[in-house]
Amino acid sequence: MPVAVRPDTAVAVAPGVHWVGALDPAMRSFDIILRTANGTSYNAYVVRGSEGVAVIDTVKANFSADFFARLETVADYDKITVIVLNHLEPDHSGALPELLHRAPKARLYISHQAQTMLKGLLDWKTVKDRVVTVGTGDEVSLGDRTLRFLNTPYLHWPDTQCTWLEEEGVLFSGDFLGCHYCDPRLFNDAVGDFRFSFEYYYAHIMRPFREHVREALDLIEPLPLHVIAPAHGPILRDDPADYVRRYRALSSSSLHSINTKTLLVFYISAYGATRRMAEAVAAGAEESGEVRVSLYDIEGSEPQPFVDLIEEADALLFGSPTINGDAVKPVWDLLSSLTMVDVKGKLGAAFGSYGWSGEAVPMIEDRLRRLKLRVPVPGVKARLSPTEDEFAACRELGRQTALHLLGRAEHRTIDMASLA
Ligand code: FEO
Repeated sequence: MPVAVRPDTAVAVAPGVHWVGALDPAMRSFDIILRTANGTSYNAYVVRGSEGVAVIDTVKANFSADFFARLETVADYDKITVIVLNHLEPDHSGALPELLHRAPKARLYISHQAQTMLKGLLDWKTVKDRVVTVGTGDEVSLGDRTLRFLNTPYLHWPDTQCTWLEEEGVLFSGDFLGCHYCDPRLFNDAVGDFRFSFEYYYAHIMRPFREHVREALDLIEPLPLHVIAPAHGPILRDDPADYVRRYRALSSSSLHSINTKTLLVFYISAYGATRRMAEAVAAGAEESGEVRVSLYDIEGSEPQPFVDLIEEADALLFGSPTINGDAVKPVWDLLSSLTMVDVKGKLGAAFGSYGWSGEAVPMIEDRLRRLKLRVPVPGVKARLSPTEDEFAACRELGRQTALHLLGRAEHRTIDMASLA
């Protein structure tokens, strides 16, 4: 069995660097949505220099006692000159107010984007003179140790940053490159197999911000990494670059024909009307000859296999009947999975048949707009069995969406009555 880390013991990570975090083996879900079968850890670190001591991140508030007990074994509060918060979410900032109180000489280093959030966490008047906002290229000296900051926003909040200890090659990466996996052996070469947790964490926390992941990797890949010290899960001292490579692979496009615009049509149909509308939409989209069009009946399928396709696609069209004044559940299930990936700026559209009210189409369009897709072509509704004109409107919906993808959208006259 793993050897327990004593609550009052700091653990050496590198010369002058100690882990002073807390273990939470009982945690079973995180941020409500994340399953954490192996619990988690809140990793905080101390860096001791010849002319100062830095504390990097804190812990969730109810684990403060462990954090302060460990911290006190390696640092006097009067010697702490620097507190770095790489991320202000409460699992890392919970002990910050008390730490600021106990370490009165310390200044707080946060990203520029974090300042607004800090005002929501602390009494700003009492801390503003101690706050230093930093970005890529900024640094703070501890004498014989220097901390350099990397601005890496949206991993997974706007405020996130990484901190680089050049002399020891340690990257304090915050949530980035971390995972929810609690093991008191702490280091990646000592803990159990946590690969599934690492990839699960990426998929649920980082994946919606894939472009920002790539930008952060551009900053991190050139660094001579000796240790990656994330804010959750194992400390990566054995081949840390391998974890960076895994993030690069996970965040890379999985489609080969990435230069071809892709348009996906999803539908579900009770009596065949919405299916025939979907076929007309797909046929219209194909008229351009330059867009790769795929048609999927989602009845009986799980949303998950479609998520990879959605992440890579340029346009997403959804067909649903209206039942009891709503789109049907499989469509909502698929729409809810859109939050797992970055869909901002993709094109969206909706269509479907209905009996007497037809709310599904505007409800889907509203959902797409709220997820920041662009919905430039009005949806198509057809009562019961679509007429030839309605099929023609479906083909036009597909054709116009494809033209938008290709940057060749045709001028459209807006019928103001339709907006009433
Ligand atoms: Fe571990 Fe985003 O907090």
